[in-house]
Amino acid sequence: MGEISMADNPDSYGKEQSSPDVSPNEVKVLSFLSRQKVILETEISIDGLGQREISSAISWLESKKLIDVSREDHTEYSLTDEGERFLREGLPEGKALQIIRNGNATVRDVLETLGQAEGKIALAQLAKLGIKPSGGILPAPEMPIFSYLEGRRKFLEKIRTGKEPLESEMLEHFRKRENVIKERKRTIRIVRINPAGMRVLEASSGNQESIGTLTPDLIQSGSWKSTPFQKYDLNSRVERILGSGIHPISYLSRMVRDIFLELGFTEMSGHYIEHAAWNMDALFIPQDHPARDMQDTFYIDSSNAPEMEHPEVLEIFRKVHEKGIRGYTGWGYRWSSEKAAQLLLRTHTTVSTIRYLYEHKQAPQAVFSVEKVFRHESVDWKHLAELHQIEGAYYGKDASLASLKWLMREFYRRLGFTQLRFVPSYYPYTEPSMDVIVTINGKEMELGGSGVFRPEVTEPLGLKHPVIAWGLGLERLAMIYFGLDDIRDIYQSDIDWLRSYRMKI
Ligand code: PHE
Repeated sequence: MGEISMADNPDSYGKEQSSPDVSPNEVKVLSFLSRQKVILETEISIDGLGQREISSAISWLESKKLIDVSREDHTEYSLTDEGERFLREGLPEGKALQIIRNGNATVRDVLETLGQAEGKIALAQLAKLGIKPSGGILPAPEMPIFSYLEGRRKFLEKIRTGKEPLESEMLEHFRKRENVIKERKRTIRIVRINPAGMRVLEASSGNQESIGTLTPDLIQSGSWKSTPFQKYDLNSRVERILGSGIHPISYLSRMVRDIFLELGFTEMSGHYIEHAAWNMDALFIPQDHPARDMQDTFYIDSSNAPEMEHPEVLEIFRKVHEKGIRGYTGWGYRWSSEKAAQLLLRTHTTVSTIRYLYEHKQAPQAVFSVEKVFRHESVDWKHLAELHQIEGAYYGKDASLASLKWLMREFYRRLGFTQLRFVPSYYPYTEPSMDVIVTINGKEMELGGSGVFRPEVTEPLGLKHPVIAWGLGLERLAMIYFGLDDIRDIYQSDIDWLRSYRMKI
């Protein structure tokens, strides 16, 4: 019975068999192909068989080496919604032509009749065809233009019905125009029956009629008695079906969660959209800080913003930013409540930490989250605009830089990273601040920031003890954990990688 286990071995899939069995659908496809030389898969049409069945039969026939298959890249064009509308209502330049056909029409006439947006397109297109306004008046068009534009309309019609060939000049025109046609690349199989296929076809002729599925009809009519049943082939090779798995990022995120839970931390969660007040002001980030810039932060229309959580803190923030506390001077500028009221996509999850501590002032507190943040960042091999942060804080009498270092070491040690380095850093809300750097296989990777919250952050909110906090990149960690050179690979949906990543752990 050793033969059967071949199905488990993907390498044996598709190897030549002495005399392969073929299904009735495959016979139909073979027989169709025996009457053609070479044909595009999409041009095969067989009564009673859908495109999916044909396509699957072709795959089987190819794996049984009964047909020869080559593949060709093919670009398909279709109309965008706007293109569909142009086809229904006419192209803007065509409509404009109707307006100016009797002469003496003005640019304004066109813009008013067609509306600004479409009018501008129409005028630009007419100008390209040599119809340009002089003194605001558009010249009456000459006859050939009408038929030329009718050609454009017909071309759109062709795109819609999928007729080929497409005239290259028209295609160029519409490819350059914005948002009228769209293209999709796909690979088409070109198939041809080969001698082995011919032999199998001949051998199977005459017994095309066989029963694959026993139906009530066949039983009632009794015709099952006289028709042969299709044979089961226990040795036929089937492709291995892989079950679904968990995405590497979810996997790592669960591991991180488990570690903090084991260490006695409580998981907190926040929201993607925050008021600048909690995301920035609460953390003593000055309102003119570069990180607040549109360059770095995604702002959101705030005209219908819901009320902020705990609005009583706003006056506290104002005081700290303008005047400071105790011996600390603050930033000394005029704090603006409008800037604080702006909505944004949270740029870090430290916003959850500070709000959590405000709501849980009873020391000690140990909290963490693994959640998504957003940055207006140009994406490259180590930067993403959407990423997850491993956030956390410990609030208590015994919180100190030493305990922070211990925690960071312990956390990464539990993931298997022992070479850790801390370098001095700067965040407006921590002092001292330090960045965490991990070395793996001789390569260094900066994983995130940490520090002890400044008194300007903790004291105004009624927190009496030190707070140590950190914000670490999950995707950066994934890079070193899964051995990736490019952070973008994580979200590339590369199916081979997704299937194999477990091996590398
Ligand atoms: N919020 C910082 C960041 O987004 C990280 C950090 C968290 C730094 C807590 C210090 C303390 O990069």
